[in-house]
Amino acid sequence: MTSDLRVDGARLWERIEALGEIGAVHGPNGERGCNRLALSGADAAGRDLVTSWMADLGLDVTIDAIGNVVATRAGTVPGLAPVMTGSHIDTVRTGGRFDGILGVLAGLEVLETLIQHGVETSRPIAVGFFTDEEGARFAPDMLGSLVYVGGMAVEEALDVRAVDDGARLGDELARIGYAGPTPCPSAVVPHAFVELHIEQGPVLEREDVTIGAVTGVQGISWTQLTIVGQSAHAGTTPMGLRHDAGYAAAAITVGVRAIARRIAAPQVATVGRLELSPDLVNVVPGRAVLTVDLRHSDDAVLRQAEAELEEDCRRVAEHEGVVIDRQSLARFAPVSFDDSMIELVESTAAGLGLSCRRMPSGAGHDAQMLSRVCPTSMIFVPSVGGLSHNIAELTEPEHVQAGADVLLHVILEKARETR
Ligand code: GLV
Ligand code: MN
Ligand code: MN
Repeated sequence: MTSDLRVDGARLWERIEALGEIGAVHGPNGERGCNRLALSGADAAGRDLVTSWMADLGLDVTIDAIGNVVATRAGTVPGLAPVMTGSHIDTVRTGGRFDGILGVLAGLEVLETLIQHGVETSRPIAVGFFTDEEGARFAPDMLGSLVYVGGMAVEEALDVRAVDDGARLGDELARIGYAGPTPCPSAVVPHAFVELHIEQGPVLEREDVTIGAVTGVQGISWTQLTIVGQSAHAGTTPMGLRHDAGYAAAAITVGVRAIARRIAAPQVATVGRLELSPDLVNVVPGRAVLTVDLRHSDDAVLRQAEAELEEDCRRVAEHEGVVIDRQSLARFAPVSFDDSMIELVESTAAGLGLSCRRMPSGAGHDAQMLSRVCPTSMIFVPSVGGLSHNIAELTEPEHVQAGADVLLHVILEKARETR
């Protein structure tokens, strides 16, 4: 009876702990997070560990030209497309141990559970981790899964430069040994894709609900602004004669918050990165680089927010006598997931006796890229305190178990389908 089947939550938790040791970051109050920026040495070590686990299970492991790693267990019926799951193992610089990691390791745990119990499926089952989901080092976010589905040419992606050290993505991929031989975009179109992920927000915990059946992902717009003014002496330059790039960046930052307030929820708007130069106490900044992250579930409203940002830049540039260059780093329209896949998550949760509610995703996910090519949905589990992209990020073991059990049975259901 496969309906009684459950994953081994303790084994899954042990793997989460082990991967969390790689690039570990410790906070002053006992927090344990991760710094595994994409294609860093820590990312390489994390990749090596997860790939070794995949190989230990006897799975067929492929590495593609953008460094996505996919492990597949064969099905019993020849010629059927795989059911796919997975996520990412890269993190932001101040990331947690669960964001992305849970989806990859739970997918692996699903396969180990099936192998251990001798459960065969008609379709193959594949679990993958995609390169550079976070976009914190190389923009755009979800880069590996975007290339996987043919949304960006691999040559273009390999030429992307890192925001921190200017390294070329293709060179970094080769340096860490993950420029693989499998062609990307993938020749294999999955039968379905389902991704387990932590919610990264407060809703499930606040409502005491265990499972989120994710309906879609809001639109994402990232812009980098480079402001060029004139550096000058802070003591001698009269206020009216300044072309202060720092002031201009601050005015735009305040304006970004005002855009979110004017449009109102669910509009969110963030300046997450700000670099001033020369960055000295007694010098008017001559140059500023900042990023603006705008998100909304309605693309027309997101376009309005983008237009307001553009107008703010024009006004500030004119007022302060600076030049502002705008560069788009990422732009993804909102995504709605497949109805039947959302319903399957709901009915599977109900069948396991777990509380469940529908909800949209505020964060970007690899699933939103896979939804371009196959029926897709996501399973969310609660985040303690709603915290994510924070080293204190935590999901309780019982919620890890619950989410992985839902993942197991959603995958089993889809992997039985022969049409
Ligand atoms: C990815 O984590 C994003 O939503 O920024
Ligand atoms: Mn994630
Ligand atoms: Mn993330």
